[in-house]
Amino acid sequence: MVVARHRGTKITVDLGAIKANIRTVLHTLPADQKLFAVVKANAYGHGLVPVAYAAKEAGATGFCVAVIDEGVALREAGLNEPILILGVNPVTEAPYIAANDLSVAVGSLEFLQEALPLLAEQGLRLNVHLALDTGMGRIGFRQPEAVRQAEEFMRAHAEQFRFEGVFTHFATADMVDTTYFNHQKQAFHKLVGALDELPPYVHVTNSAASLWHQQTAGNMIRFGIAMYGLNPSGREMAPTYALRPALSLTSEVVHVKKITAGDSVGYGKTYTAGQDEWIGTVPMGYADGWLRRLQGFKVLVDGEECEIVGRVCMDQFMIRLPHAVKLGTKVTLIGRDGDAQITAQDVADYVGTIHYEILCGLSHRVPRVYRD
Ligand SMILES: Cc1ncc(COP(=O)(O)O)c(C=O)c1O
Repeated sequence: MVVARHRGTKITVDLGAIKANIRTVLHTLPADQKLFAVVKANAYGHGLVPVAYAAKEAGATGFCVAVIDEGVALREAGLNEPILILGVNPVTEAPYIAANDLSVAVGSLEFLQEALPLLAEQGLRLNVHLALDTGMGRIGFRQPEAVRQAEEFMRAHAEQFRFEGVFTHFATADMVDTTYFNHQKQAFHKLVGALDELPPYVHVTNSAASLWHQQTAGNMIRFGIAMYGLNPSGREMAPTYALRPALSLTSEVVHVKKITAGDSVGYGKTYTAGQDEWIGTVPMGYADGWLRRLQGFKVLVDGEECEIVGRVCMDQFMIRLPHAVKLGTKVTLIGRDGDAQITAQDVADYVGTIHYEILCGLSHRVPRVYRD
């Protein structure tokens, strides 16, 4: 993986904003609520380790990742807090997960049964969070009886399993209509009711639930997108506490030219100038996560909106400038320039997706720089 450090394109992450967002939500929660920072997918594109350390400083007492390797990377970076892997893993990896003192979501009795001899052989103990499928339809137990069996199995094999948590995930916590959310909540209480004893962590709350369903359940929240300062509902609902976006994406003009009416720009000749125009070239393309579909979108140059003309290439795109600008002039793709602002939500709206996908799609080639 090569990071393009010798190019004027960069992501700037404001760790102060991340910390502020955590402190804000912690203020709104009852004092006994713990916060695990969701740092999967390279901390939603912001950078795994720096974000994890900033989150810890602001009060996060654990982390959530999606895959084993992300958890191991946090351990290698010196973080000793609980780290929960939210995704399903091959059972053959159970000893490796345990050896790295990671915790894992388990959604079937078979996983426990098959992991048992592998763990016993190496004298290892696995931290388990039972995943309950209350309506997300992704992973987890769906029947109370199965939950009870899993609990019994872990208690019967306490040398190999530590029953550390139980959780579910809401599919519609970010929507105005709460019918399905309430249905999932009820399903959760029914499934959890099958347990003899609650484990140390009971958790259901994601960012959306922390904003719009604070009284839901549990003693820990899995705090993702709102930590990065973005509204999980997109534009559907107003946030109930302040969110400060942490990421900005900037580049620079590396080439400027005047073209005349009839000249075209870019692959496929999809843009033809109607008159004399100034065109600037920006070193960022779809290989960096700046999608090809962004032709026609606007970026900011000196606080002014400039249209992306022609198709976005793999490593560059072109913009129509109001006048000639100096080489090296800053281009803001996401963030603020003077009074003008482009948000990740604006980018997402333009290409018909959600801001999560835009941020996670910013490739490793773009360097991340941090300020606090
Ligand atoms: C199981 C689980 N919990 C929590 C989160 C965090 O969600 P959000 O970023 O909306 O806070 C996710 C994100 O995908 C998730 O999959």
